[in-house]
Amino acid sequence: MTKKVAVLPGDGIGEEVMAQALRVLSAVSEIFPLKFETRHALAGGAAFDKFGSHMPEETLKLCRESDAILFGSVGGPVADMNLPKWKNCEANSILSLRKTFNFNVNLRPVKVIPELAALCPLKEEIIARGVDILFVRELLGDAYFGEKKTFLKDGRRVATDLSTYTEDQVASVAHAAFKAALKRNNKVTSVDKANVLDASKLWRTVVHEVAQEYPTVKLEDMLVDNCAMQIIRDPSQFDVVVTTNMFGDILSDAAAVLPGSLGLLASASQNEAGFGLYEPPGGSAQDIAGKGCANPIAQILSVALMLRFSFQAEEAAQAIENAVSLTLKQGLRTTDILTPDSSGKTQAVTTVQMTDGILAHLMKLSPVLS
Ligand code: IPM
Ligand code: MG
Repeated sequence: MTKKVAVLPGDGIGEEVMAQALRVLSAVSEIFPLKFETRHALAGGAAFDKFGSHMPEETLKLCRESDAILFGSVGGPVADMNLPKWKNCEANSILSLRKTFNFNVNLRPVKVIPELAALCPLKEEIIARGVDILFVRELLGDAYFGEKKTFLKDGRRVATDLSTYTEDQVASVAHAAFKAALKRNNKVTSVDKANVLDASKLWRTVVHEVAQEYPTVKLEDMLVDNCAMQIIRDPSQFDVVVTTNMFGDILSDAAAVLPGSLGLLASASQNEAGFGLYEPPGGSAQDIAGKGCANPIAQILSVALMLRFSFQAEEAAQAIENAVSLTLKQGLRTTDILTPDSSGKTQAVTTVQMTDGILAHLMKLSPVLS
C-alpha cells in the first residue's frame, strides 16, 4: 500500500537537505516493495511569509492526512531573531506539532562512528570503549507545557512555568524506553532530580513500577547533574537514557557534540498510536543555507528512522544506515565533518555529492526485490 508522507522542509538548509533525503526515499521505493506519496507543506518562517503563522492549519491538515511527517528545520538567522517572521519560530512550529499530534516520546540516537572519531572532543581511549546511546525524552510534560504566567507582585516582575508530570505520562515514555532497550543492550538509565523535585520523585517511582514488566532489562537511576558529567566522562556506560522533557532537551544536545557534527543526527517523535515525525534536531543552519555544502546525512537518517518506526521497514532502514556508514568509510566529507585524510589532505564534497555517494552504496547493498 502507498504510504503518504507529509514533507515539511522549513527554512535555512531544510529545503536543500530535504531534496536529497527524498532522492534516497525514491531509491528505496525502487529497491524494496514500498511505495510512497510525498506531499509538501510550509513550516516555520517559510509558512509565516504566506500564512502569517509558523504552523498554519493547511500544514496541520496535510499532516493529519498522512502516515508520517518528514520535517526539515525551522528558524531564522541569529541577527534577525526579533523580526516577526522569526520570533518564536522554532517553538511555534515544533511545539505546536508536538501538541497537535500528542507526540509524547522523542528518540534521539547518538553514536560515534569510528571513522569520525577524530571529530569527537573526548580522548581516544574513552571513545574506544564505544559511544552508542539512545535518548528517550518525554515530550509533552514538564515546564514546557505547564501553566505559564508573567505578572507583577508588589510592583516587581515575576515569571513562572509550572513543571508537572502525571503517572500516565511517565509510564508511557518508560514503556517506550524499556521496549527500545530490549532491542539494544538491555539497559535503561532513568535520569531525574529526585533528590529535590516532587515531579522527579513520581518519575522515579513510576519508572520502577514499569520496570517490573521488563525483568531482563537492567534499570539504574541517575541524577541529572551527575548524568551531564558521566556523558562526558564515560559515555560507553549508557545504552538507553530515559528522561524528562527539559533534562532530555539539554542532555541530548550535550551528547550531540560526541559524533562530531549536528549534521549527523536524526530524531523521531511519536505518539501512542505510533504516528511519527522524523527530523534532524540540528537546526536550520542559516549561515550555510543555499551554499550547497550542508551535510544531508541527518535528514537522510531521519528517512531511515521513518522507515523503521512508521513503516516497519527495518531492512530498508538498515540499508540506508549501512550506505551512510560505507560512504563515510570511503572518506566522503562535507565541510562540517572535514578531517585530514592519511596523506594530510582535506577535500569537502557538496550536499549533492555526499548523497550521490550514499545512493551508490544503497543501490549496491540492497537486494532488488520485486
Ligand atoms: C529540540 C529543540 C526544541 C525543544 C525547541 C526548538 C522548542 O531544542 O527539539 O530539542 O526545546 O524541544
Ligand atoms: Mg533542544
